[in-house]
Amino acid sequence: MKHRSVTIDFQELAYDELEAFERDLVDKARQYTHNAYSPYSRFKVGAAILLDNGEVVCGANQENTAFPSGTCAERSACFSAGARFPGIKFRAIAIAARGTDDLPVDDPCAPCGACRQALLEYEKLAGEPVEVLLVGRDIIYRLPSVQSLLPLAFITF
Ligand code: THU
Repeated sequence: MKHRSVTIDFQELAYDELEAFERDLVDKARQYTHNAYSPYSRFKVGAAILLDNGEVVCGANQENTAFPSGTCAERSACFSAGARFPGIKFRAIAIAARGTDDLPVDDPCAPCGACRQALLEYEKLAGEPVEVLLVGRDIIYRLPSVQSLLPLAFITF
């Protein structure tokens, strides 16, 4: 028997410590929380993806009265990016959220499992790591890749 382990290494930063392009992504993710349509959960998530061509594509969670028909902010952003700019690599994504009290969440908001899987596919297509910024009220987590959020992932290519 072999023991194996996976550890993830990430940084905690203040907004002022971010690079300019990261601050822009964080601003846009925070701004897009206001575009959420979430009358059922009242949880509002915004996501902003920087593409290799310099474009930033954003998304917000969109719910539906037939609950499973809704989608998360991250998938709304990444599928929109794939549809608008097919084949263009993803470089980075920022994710921000406001809670049911309508205030920015204290702790950085991490993507759900389905969004990790969806984002990983675009990272694999890019062939390079996609930086992930998880945005809290006062702190931001910077992760080196989507893969780091989804060890032992299912991937067929
Ligand atoms: N949500 C996201 O937009 N992203 C996630 O990664 C987790 C959850 C949304 C889905 C739903 O509209 C609301 O947050 C509550 O789960």
